[in-house]
Amino acid sequence: MKSFGDYQNEIYFAGLHGVRPALPVDFRTLEARATAALPPSVLSYVQGGCGDEFTQRRNVEAFSEWGIVPRMLVDTRVRDLSVDVFGKRIAAPLMLAPIGVIGVCAQDGHGDIATAKAAAAAGVPMIASTLMNDPLETVAEALGGGDAFFQLYTPKDRDLAASFVRRAEAAGYRGIVVTLDTWLTGWRPRDLNDSNFPQLRGVALANYFSDPHFRAKLKAPPEEDIAAAVGLWASVFGQTVTWEDLAWLRSITRLPLIVKGIQHPDDAKRAIDVGVDAVYCSNHGGRQANGGIASIDLLPDLVAACGNVPVWFDSGVRSGTDVVKALAMGASLVGIGRPYAYGLALGGTAGVVHVVRSILAEADLLMAVDGFPDLAALRAAGVRRTRPQSR
Ligand code: FNR
Repeated sequence: MKSFGDYQNEIYFAGLHGVRPALPVDFRTLEARATAALPPSVLSYVQGGCGDEFTQRRNVEAFSEWGIVPRMLVDTRVRDLSVDVFGKRIAAPLMLAPIGVIGVCAQDGHGDIATAKAAAAAGVPMIASTLMNDPLETVAEALGGGDAFFQLYTPKDRDLAASFVRRAEAAGYRGIVVTLDTWLTGWRPRDLNDSNFPQLRGVALANYFSDPHFRAKLKAPPEEDIAAAVGLWASVFGQTVTWEDLAWLRSITRLPLIVKGIQHPDDAKRAIDVGVDAVYCSNHGGRQANGGIASIDLLPDLVAACGNVPVWFDSGVRSGTDVVKALAMGASLVGIGRPYAYGLALGGTAGVVHVVRSILAEADLLMAVDGFPDLAALRAAGVRRTRPQSR
């Protein structure tokens, strides 16, 4: 039976014929390669975060403060990493987090489509951003039978919000992920120092420009007057989603509703009361608010607050080891952001597939060595602090 860890043998055996992997398998080397390859404006937008990037750094560092205690004398020759996602079995508990400029991370500008193809090929769900370079319907077609969820940046105009939801339903997205922490942009020095905000240059607005409701509000179509279209976008982007808005969103769709950006257990509980189907623990990779606590450090309290409701997780995941730790701490699905953006920039669809396969291989081999044949065993074992906590 094939396992994710087999990728390791594939790489070693190819080496016997003089073939090395086209891209590195570790994040540090991957990021260094992407740093050399990406246009500076795209790199700073992807790599940068909020303020002095304290939270962004903590997201990554904090993983090293949690560790796994292995169990021996367990037969782990066969591992099962599969997970139930709203009634469907998915082979691995990994997802591609929404990235609004993923379109321009690809050299041809169609990175959303390349990501959809990669998600389908690798068998992991894509969370497709509202901010796409191609319309959500075109991206959905590229998925073939793959799974995708539509991430909603709720517009101020409810009719436009409803139109996005209807389109996502019609195109076959499996749920709506409402992002709560981005009704405006956090203070991002790298982008500010370059006066660089891609959306104001018309990047990643295809879902707006293709929307009948949005277009009806324009005197001339975006193809003829891009400045007016971008101006309308700037005026409608960014509803400060409140509990009332969340209840409204719940009322307009029967698709699973997932709230992204939850950090406090009380918010998680209240969102569950409103009827959400999953809580997504994330601080947007440290891009939106600085001075926060690493997302992984907040995960245990959220999991405890959510009971049987699944908790999705991202922010700071850089390796298969990080994925295993987040799963051991109770996450149902673990998302990666920047790692796959770099994979896409360097290798297109194949680059994303390679990043996913590398992360899953590391996770699978770690579970094998550590004595966990499945996610239930891993979760039951949990994690410990790698150093005693001072009081
Ligand atoms: C993001 N993220 C994001 N989130 C979201 O809900 N909608 C979006 O459009 C975007 N856009 C976006 C662009 C870029 C360049 C990045 C790096 C991130 C946040 C993303 O979904 C996820 O929360 C973080 O990327 C996770 O952190 P890591 O893995 O990048 O550390």
